[in-house]
Amino acid sequence: MSDPAEHRTVSVQLGPRSYEIEISTGRLASCGESISLWAEERGLSARQAVVITDANVRTPYAETVAASLRDAGWDATLADVPAGENSKSLDVVWRLYDELVAIEAGRQTLVVAVGGGVVGDLAGLVAATYTRGVPFVQIPTTLLAQVDSSVGGKVGVNHAHGKNLIGAFHQPIGVVIDTTVLESLPARDYRSGLAEVIKYGVILDEEFFDFLEQNIQGLNDREPAILQHIIARSCELKAQVVEQDEHERTGLRAVLNYGHTFAHAYEALCGYGELTHGEAVAIGMADAAKLAQRRGLIDQTLFSRQTALTTAVGLPTQLPAPLNPDDVLQRMKLDKKTVAGNLRFVLPTRLGHVQVFTDVAEADVRAVLNS
Ligand SMILES: NC(=O)c1ccc[n+]([C@@H]2O[C@H](COP(=O)([O-])OP(=O)(O)OC[C@H]3O[C@@H](n4cnc5c(N)ncnc54)[C@H](O)[C@@H]3O)[C@@H](O)[C@H]2O)c1
Ligand SMILES: [Zn+2]
Repeated sequence: MSDPAEHRTVSVQLGPRSYEIEISTGRLASCGESISLWAEERGLSARQAVVITDANVRTPYAETVAASLRDAGWDATLADVPAGENSKSLDVVWRLYDELVAIEAGRQTLVVAVGGGVVGDLAGLVAATYTRGVPFVQIPTTLLAQVDSSVGGKVGVNHAHGKNLIGAFHQPIGVVIDTTVLESLPARDYRSGLAEVIKYGVILDEEFFDFLEQNIQGLNDREPAILQHIIARSCELKAQVVEQDEHERTGLRAVLNYGHTFAHAYEALCGYGELTHGEAVAIGMADAAKLAQRRGLIDQTLFSRQTALTTAVGLPTQLPAPLNPDDVLQRMKLDKKTVAGNLRFVLPTRLGHVQVFTDVAEADVRAVLNS
């Protein structure tokens, strides 16, 4: 593991849209330097930036970013939106366009997202569409955003009839991750991010899963060296998948949805907010492992190890109260990832490896839900 005083870089190789993710402990206040370098490499001559953030993150993080950009010679403006999922709406996008127009932003204006997945998805959609696309930098401040939503270029907002129904693929020119921002993250949000970290181990990397098992204390204490390592490895693993299926066409990117067929249904049925996304994913992964076991794909060991690790970091592996299996199945069929009415499940075949199955019998899903 690297010394936390150093920083690590993960490259995302997407031809002309390639970019770097810089992972450090304490370099937020000098992020303007990296951003200037990335802008230079892209031939951006203007030095105008709009930092989009939410009300919880503005002070001190977004202000620190704006100050660092100014030190590096940028004209930086701040725009904030209310914290929370409701800001992922076209109304808020519209308001941000107004702010861009007001400062006479042009094609070279840089949009910088400082915040969790909400701000990243929202600011990313603004960046993807304003004047048909302006350069974009992600500075994720939640663990979920650092290991998941800031990597891969998916941006978007919600529609009354569905989450993330309106969106685009728009890759950033760079991502700045400073693990020290996680110190102020509420415990529940922190643990939620860990669910996605555990997911990467189960689906792609047994050795990484072992590492997580051996470092539970460090994970729970948010130790800087551990954070740098788990964030870097998660970004590398997600990047490898995205590099092979940037626009979600080959189906490969679907492996990232391990636990998510269950999780999306649980989130919707428990009422959004009741379960965090990460909690729903943790429960969904337990159920996916049970389903795999029923199919004879794996033995009891994977389920036990996954449950032990998930529990050790404070995540649930069972729903707070049972849901009606009919409702769950109906919800699963509504999921936008369902193809031609076939339920699609990502199931482990061994630790570190999963496969997509479209032929899972409803009876098996019911049995898992009733277990
Ligand atoms: N684009 C993708 O590929 C992708 C992937 C996964 C999730 N998402 C999206 O991400 C969103 C969820 O992201 P999230 O979990 O980061 O939620 P979020 O952005 O709402 O952040 C959670 C809360 O933490 C606060 N916060 C953020 N950073 C903080 C910090 N350092 N200290 C204290 N408080 C802080 C926020 O203000 C907010 O109240 C969802 O909308 C989801 O659809 C997108
Ligand atoms: Zn997820």
